[in-house]
Amino acid sequence: MDQIEIKGGRPLRGEIDVSGAKNAALPLLFATLLASGESRLGNVPQLRDIATVGKLLEIFGAEVEREGSALRIDTRGLVSVEAPYELVKTMRASVLALGPLTARFGHARVSLPGGCAIGARPINLHLKGLEAMGAEITLDHGYVEARAERLKGARIYLDIPTVTGTENLLMAAALAEGETVLENAAREPEIIDLAEALVKMGARIEGAGSDTIHIQGADDLAPYEHCTMPDRIEAGTFLAAAAVTGGDVLVHGARAEHLEALLAKLREAGVEIVAEADGLRVRGPERLRAVSIKTSPHPGFPTDMQAQFMALMCLAEGTSVISENVFENRFMHVCELQRMGADISVDGHAATVRGIEGLCGAPVMATDLRASASLIVAGLAAENTTRISRIYHLDRGYERIEEKLAGLGAEIRRVKES
Ligand code: EPU
Repeated sequence: MDQIEIKGGRPLRGEIDVSGAKNAALPLLFATLLASGESRLGNVPQLRDIATVGKLLEIFGAEVEREGSALRIDTRGLVSVEAPYELVKTMRASVLALGPLTARFGHARVSLPGGCAIGARPINLHLKGLEAMGAEITLDHGYVEARAERLKGARIYLDIPTVTGTENLLMAAALAEGETVLENAAREPEIIDLAEALVKMGARIEGAGSDTIHIQGADDLAPYEHCTMPDRIEAGTFLAAAAVTGGDVLVHGARAEHLEALLAKLREAGVEIVAEADGLRVRGPERLRAVSIKTSPHPGFPTDMQAQFMALMCLAEGTSVISENVFENRFMHVCELQRMGADISVDGHAATVRGIEGLCGAPVMATDLRASASLIVAGLAAENTTRISRIYHLDRGYERIEEKLAGLGAEIRRVKES
């Protein structure tokens, strides 16, 4: 198995490109199931999760072909509406097949994803929404089955503004009869990107990006041509890496409007961030100042940046409190950061980080995608060598990260486990 080896302590300098957003591309790929024909999605990162959706679409009977950074998806030959456990267990976002398949074919059978490292992550709100639209939901042998002759528009209040839940229901509503109103909907930029593609397919949608979305269902949708938005979490990870090393980096594709909460906190910590033509320039201070954060749904501080921000706070002057309010178990990186010398104590949903002068490289283990990213950020700033194992987590969400960071002068490489 591969590992990432980092010799830390070098300030990052130069320019780096952000890839297309994994969490936008995933729902966009499932949206192709809503129409018959050839869709084309540009700016799709080459990642394991994207390959998994590709396999799933092929199981349904679609043809998926990569052309450079774009994917061509031909859904004319769809034959199956079943998402098997073997694929769903490797990628929870497979549940995004449920809405479009039920809306288009009146039937879908998708394996329940089960728990995952960062928490239980139920899909009850996805199911409740589909039921409100008239679907009959049954659970059987670990599979959830949805049936409906034709989904009907409904007024749906989401108890929690779930991101993939909003996306699933948005896709289902696009082909439902009449109007659907999603209340307390997720407001993440990825929702807007999906809504834009659905509008290109012929749906009428208003309010995407706010907490109330109105969708007028269409009888038929057409394939789309669309370009995936840049990955705001990858961008944020690069900003964090540049900041913690006291570097000076231009992150092409980083968009301030997607990253406001993170930028505010980085600035408070003493990082200089300036908007340039197509990205953000970041300059790290000699020493960061401790600031506290609380994660919450967009536009709050993103849970997907919590681990990386904690790596920064390990080296800041002072004490910060990091509260995780979105997932119940997203502090697995703490033990690994402690192996590098960090002074952190966890009490329920809050971690208290007392900043120290320096981290020390160590062998550490990635436990989930963003935890892996935090270890990279920490490793770049640490003295000596850090070796990160189980980096298959990293490969789910970061495209060629070691090559990209090496381009900024980092001593980082992929090695075989010795
Ligand atoms: N929740 C429920 N019931 C539901 C759905 C969600 O109780 O039916 C709870 C979850 O357990 C969690 C909270 O609601 O406590 C928020 O979960 P949400 O559904 O918003 O998360 P998600 O849609 O499963 C997406 C991203 C995650 C990201 C979260 C939060 C994708 C494919 N995944 O997950 O990304 O952390 O939103 O922003 O878009 C990552 O990229 O590393 C990642 C985990």
